Amino acid sequence: MYPPTGVYWIETASPAAFPRLAGDISVDVAVIGGGLVGAIAARLIKDQGLRVALVEARSVGQEVTGKSTAKITSQHNLVYTRLRNRFGMDGARSYAEANEAGLRKILALAADHQLAADIEIKAAYTYTLLEEHVGSIEEEVQLARELGLPATLAMETGLPFAARAAMRWIDQAQFHPVKFVAGLAATLPGEGSHVFEQSRVLDWDSSRVVTAKGAIKAGHVVMATQLPLGQTGAYYARNYPHMHPVIAGQADPGRVPEGMYISVEQPRHSLRSHRTADGRPFLIFTGPSYKPGHADEARKAFAEIEGFARDHFGVQASYRWTNEDYTPMDGRPFIGWSSRQDGLLVATGFDAWGISNGAAAAMIICDLLTGRENPWADFFDARRLDVAHGAKQFVKGNAAVAAELVGGHLASTPRDAEALSPGEGAVLKINGEKMAVFRDETGQLHSLAAACSHLGCLLGWNEFDRTWDCPCHGSRFGLDGEVIHGPATEPLKTGVTG
Ligand SMILES: Cc1cc2nc3c(=O)[nH]c(=O)nc-3n(C[C@H](O)[C@H](O)[C@H](O)COP(=O)(O)OP(=O)(O)OC[C@H]3O[C@@H](n4cnc5c(N)ncnc54)[C@H](O)[C@@H]3O)c2cc1C
Ligand code: FES
Repeated sequence: MYPPTGVYWIETASPAAFPRLAGDISVDVAVIGGGLVGAIAARLIKDQGLRVALVEARSVGQEVTGKSTAKITSQHNLVYTRLRNRFGMDGARSYAEANEAGLRKILALAADHQLAADIEIKAAYTYTLLEEHVGSIEEEVQLARELGLPATLAMETGLPFAARAAMRWIDQAQFHPVKFVAGLAATLPGEGSHVFEQSRVLDWDSSRVVTAKGAIKAGHVVMATQLPLGQTGAYYARNYPHMHPVIAGQADPGRVPEGMYISVEQPRHSLRSHRTADGRPFLIFTGPSYKPGHADEARKAFAEIEGFARDHFGVQASYRWTNEDYTPMDGRPFIGWSSRQDGLLVATGFDAWGISNGAAAAMIICDLLTGRENPWADFFDARRLDVAHGAKQFVKGNAAVAAELVGGHLASTPRDAEALSPGEGAVLKINGEKMAVFRDETGQLHSLAAACSHLGCLLGWNEFDRTWDCPCHGSRFGLDGEVIHGPATEPLKTGVTG
């Protein structure tokens, strides 16, 4: 069992403070969700002379964006070969141009608004230790160069072990994600525009969003909540969630490699550096993916990335947290007008590359709202129904979802609440009901209904963040049952207290 450590990026940023929505207001565009996509979309929309309200359920920048490794790069492992094989050169080119533009947009926004977001220009590396992937890296480099991307084969990586092959893209960047999003959000209020925090949207349509304490009437509504809320566009059934372990720890200055890195092979290793305000170097790592709510897989994934960090870089984790993103069924994000509800704009399915993709999404959304042509909008069109590519993997994923809906998985140990140690949680059967039970440090038990408030899947315990996570579509809930994120908008029902 691990004591919670908090999230490195959240702990090293000064909290932004925006008011709650109280009462009713009217704007041109309401943006639900104050992550990277929402904040950039709101800024671009305001730059078009429109009044915008950014409405955040919790604190701006502190959800998936603020828990990422925050590399700003158009190098997404071997994505271009995959896209070219599925969608031809035009598809790969749209993705490349959109992501390059997204990367440059983040840098431009930081410069224009003088955001203190610890931006550093870095090279991005994808490497392999295995002979079997050397050809794939060579193919990706050649294709990337044809697409105009700054790729070369690299002989040296700066890593403390020899790679069989690596590709190096220059002029990429990394930043402090919470400082960036909070700083950008702070430029929004005024001239009829607003930012609201602690204001969860509970109901919405194409011209209005409703929170517990107020409502916003709007000409358009953008849903920038990572996965669209509730049943919107059934995106929860066209993307599947994957969770990752993330760790950060202080590094010996002599052992900090100069670039940002990711491996081709599994178990996937990704890392980057960051310097604290007082100049101490940290390394931030993320490791192999696993299914949300599956405690055994989580433990294995943390053990794997912690071993990698320790063995190669001498880093001991002083922060541990988990983060989640969604893989779209056909391998390309869904961006633009929603599938079913005209007037709603959405952006989802970034497959753990939502920084550059997210900025591109904000640009596309702003263009669609203001009636301008956008060269990438067709490729990412969120209304597309032809998602046959990747269907095999997706069917497998949906079969697993069905299994979670029917049975779920109960904790094998402990089997009853009395056996829970302080700080431990488990899904247990109590009086015939499946309950999510947690024992706090004072010994008191807290229990909630273990059925996800989205579509009823059985939740699983996340011991690293002390949350209840849904394996089906990735909703996450706090110990108080409140939604952290996901398509769910309602808290968990409270249950019996032991
Ligand atoms: C481990 C990991 C590492 C990653 N590293 C990288 C990386 O290095 N580079 C990269 O490009 N991508 C990376 N990603 C992916 C990237 O972080 C995400 O795709 C991206 O940040 C998503 O941004 P977002 O704005 O859509 O979501 P978020 O940042 O989650 O923003 C959505 C916001 O909506 C709010 N919200 C939700 N529901 C409501 C509601 N009902 N009412 C109001 N507000 C609501 C949430 O609180 C949240 O603040 C990583 C992902 C993972 C899992
Ligand atoms: S997120 Fe859909 S059932 Fe839990």
